[in-house]
Order: sequence, then C-alpha cells, then structure tokens
Amino acid sequence: MSLEAAIERLHAASRVAVLTGAGISAESGIPTFRDAQTGLWAQYNPEDLASPAAYATDAKLVWDWYAWRYELCANASPNAAHEKLAALERRTPEFLLVTQNVDGLHARAGSERMVELHGDIMQARCESCQTRFMLEAGFEIPPHCPICGTRARPNVVWFGEALPRRELERAQQAFQTCEVALVIGTSGVVEPAASLGRIAKNRGAFLIELNPLETPLSGFADASIRAGAVAGLGLLGL
Ligand code: OAD
Repeated sequence: MSLEAAIERLHAASRVAVLTGAGISAESGIPTFRDAQTGLWAQYNPEDLASPAAYATDAKLVWDWYAWRYELCANASPNAAHEKLAALERRTPEFLLVTQNVDGLHARAGSERMVELHGDIMQARCESCQTRFMLEAGFEIPPHCPICGTRARPNVVWFGEALPRRELERAQQAFQTCEVALVIGTSGVVEPAASLGRIAKNRGAFLIELNPLETPLSGFADASIRAGAVAGLGLLGL
C-alpha cells in the first residue's frame, strides 16, 4: 500500500471517479448491511424485505421496513466524509460520485455530479404510471400516486431487479475514463457496482480503497487503506 503515491495521484488528478457504499454512512449512524453485529442483514433476511417477491407477498411489511429506514435516514446528517467528497468534486474538473446508498446523504452534503445506482429511499414510484414523488415525514403506508392514485412502491432497486440503465452507463463511463478511482465503504459483493474499481484499474487508473476491513478489491488496489471513511479521507489530505 502506498499512501504517499495515493495522495500525490489524487491531488494531481483532473479526472476522478468515486464509488461509495453503506460504510460511508456508518459514521452518520445508519447501519450497514453486512456488518455482523449491527448490519441490517444480520437481523433480517434481505430477500424477505427488499425483493419483488417480498413486496408481492406482504407489501405492508416491506413498507413498514422502508418507513423505519426512511426515518433513520431523514434523522441522520451527512458526516465529514460526505462533505469532503462534495469539496473534492468542487475542485476536480471531471468528477463523478457513484453511490450504492439510498440514504440521500451525499446530496444533502452538496454532491451534484452524482448517480444513485440503487435509488433513493426518500422517493416512491407509482406502480402504474411510474411517477416518482418525494415522501414526506409520516407518509401513509402504503403511499399512493399523487397523479393516478395507484399504490406506490419504494423507489429503490430490489434484489433481482435491473439497475437504472442511464445511471449505470454514466457510472461505467466515469470509471473507464478516470485517472484515479476511489472506492469507499463497500464490501464489494454486489454487482455491477462491485466491478467498477476493477474496470478503472484495468484501464490504467490508480485505484484507492478506504475500508476498515479487507474486501475482494483490496489485493487489486494500488492503495488499500485500512481506515474508516472520515479518517481515511483525512489521511489522503482531503
Ligand atoms: P455492506 O454492508 O455490504 O458493506 C459495508 C462496508 O463498509 C463493509 O466493507 C465495512 O467494512 C465497511 N465499513 C464499515 N464501517 C465503515 C466506515 N466507518 N468507513 C468506511 N467503511 C466502513 O454495504 P454495501 O457494500 O454498500 O443493495 O452493500 C452494497 C449493496 O448491498 C447495498 O447498496 C444494498 C445491499 O443489498 C441494495 O439494496 C440493492
């Protein structure tokens, strides 16, 4: 691992692509998915809650779970890592932040050149006319479309569903052309997001990973820094 090289390359780069996962929001108090003790999946079986089959079986259970996560996210605040990435964006000519998170904290920290690969927990989507609309605190369960009145579903990607094509293409394009790829707080097990770091590395980019734990990407990275997002970005001089 070469921290000096990572600092030098990151600060010299005019094309940067960043991928974040649940780990970047852990320091905002939002549970990750796979951390053994606190992870959401440690308490629930994801297929029972975040899948089309689960929703078809018991839409109210699924909405109760999302309403609970909605409150968690709405009451959380962006942390210094979210803010450091928004600042990096403002001084980098070509920049894209790709997040797997649905908590909305990057947008609230000021990130603009960003794609949300897995959707947005603050939004619902009509099951009939596909209208997307923001959910207000204390929304009715299930919410109904303000346009046609049909029941609406969470506007997030569920297991077995395709990612939004335009967002995925933008993400892949950014990682194919960046000089430095920064992968923060993801276990790197859910495709296609998990491949983005490798795509960048295979195209000659300098690959930096920030994670307190080793992941499948760690051995592939030019610099894999065993640190949390806030401390790790500090080590990188951000
Ligand atoms: P995971 O819970 O799988 O992984 C979280 C990662 O964050 C782990 O590698 C932790 O080591 C790391 N981590 C924990 N605390 C951290 C900290 N303070 N700073 C930095 N990293 C930290 O979450 P994701 O990789 O984001 O998909 O999961 C990917 C997708 O799987 C999610 O978007 C979700 C889930 O199913 C959908 O809902 C479609």
